[in-house]
Amino acid sequence: MTQPQQDLQDTIAVSDYRQDFPLLQQEVNGHPLVYLDSAASAQQPASVMDAVAQYERTDHANVHRGVHSLSHRATDAYEQARDKLRAFINAESRSEIVLTSGTTESINLVAQSYCRPRIGSGDRILITHLEHHSNIVPWQLVCEQTGAELLVAPMDSRGQLVLEKLYELMTDKVKILAIGHVSNALGTIHPLREIIARAHALGIPVLVDGAQGVPHMAIDVQDLDCDFYAFSGHKMFGPTGTGVLYARECLLETMPPYQGGGDMILEVSFEGTTYNDLPYKFEAGTPNIAGVIGMGAAVDYLQSVGLANIAEHEQQLLDYMTRRLTEIDGIRLIGTAANKASIQSFMLDDIHSHDLGTILDHQGVAIRTGHHCAMPVMDYFGIPGTARASLALYNNADDVDRLVDALEQAKKLFA
Ligand code: ALA
Repeated sequence: MTQPQQDLQDTIAVSDYRQDFPLLQQEVNGHPLVYLDSAASAQQPASVMDAVAQYERTDHANVHRGVHSLSHRATDAYEQARDKLRAFINAESRSEIVLTSGTTESINLVAQSYCRPRIGSGDRILITHLEHHSNIVPWQLVCEQTGAELLVAPMDSRGQLVLEKLYELMTDKVKILAIGHVSNALGTIHPLREIIARAHALGIPVLVDGAQGVPHMAIDVQDLDCDFYAFSGHKMFGPTGTGVLYARECLLETMPPYQGGGDMILEVSFEGTTYNDLPYKFEAGTPNIAGVIGMGAAVDYLQSVGLANIAEHEQQLLDYMTRRLTEIDGIRLIGTAANKASIQSFMLDDIHSHDLGTILDHQGVAIRTGHHCAMPVMDYFGIPGTARASLALYNNADDVDRLVDALEQAKKLFA
């Protein structure tokens, strides 16, 4: 076994925070679990589980629908979560926080309710080569429905956007730019402020897929000046099936509802329907009440640790992981951008990524393998997939050393 590097100074008491995550205190296949798949789904602190359990045990009822006490308590907890989320991303108003099932639904909502009615043949939608499928396919659907054209800004061999090409593609024909904050496959962080300013100078609205941004850095949507920002609860220590669409109020006001059903209406008759106020106009049906309350608790948790502390710790650990991985003979790092969040894709010799993932799992090390829902990125590198280690607040140098040991073990098995 290699020894953890003595020179890695944690900026925060990682081991203490690790105790907050019950799931991490277990063995998998006879080894203490090393969880390096937080980009797929981050683990939850006990406080999130407790908030969900409290709602289910003592407050469970539908929201916005009852005069009884349980319904009031459920509604209060649910709406408090919205307020926490508003403050978390510094949106101007709670009307701008639409609660959804996740990033995917948030992007589809914008594609169908904002983009589709405004776009036609001859118009263009601009995305980048680094997008997750969830920020590609909704726009392809709109193109099929309207005759618009999808443009893709290229990346370079380090996994960085080629900005001059992106700017060349921005013309008055482009009706929206949809761009990730952080690439889920490569970890690249895009210079969003600059990109958004360039787009706005040409009158192009910008949607940001923030699924991989929100867990790793403080987000201020007013400072970014984005028009839409989509993210998921389960990437930021909250429950699955929860998410947010932030959208400027003036845009939401002009958009038709995405789905019809309870909560998005004020009055219904067979002659017609009056829609509810923002943000409820976009929240049809009984929502994931427990999940949203859990997402609110996840915001409390993130803020108690501090996003700046999280970012600093993860950056140090990413540097350490990159250094340790490059020491392995036969490793090929995929995604080496200058500005990265805590994600590293790689290949080892000619071992298939799924084989690598299975061998690592036998040693208690959980990573993600395959195309990471970003097939065009894999096509760019001419590979079917990668192994991907992604870090969170609860990881430490020992986890990285265990990853490296497990990879050395895999090399021996395939030698
Ligand atoms: N989008 C998630 C990932 O990157 C599932 O793993």
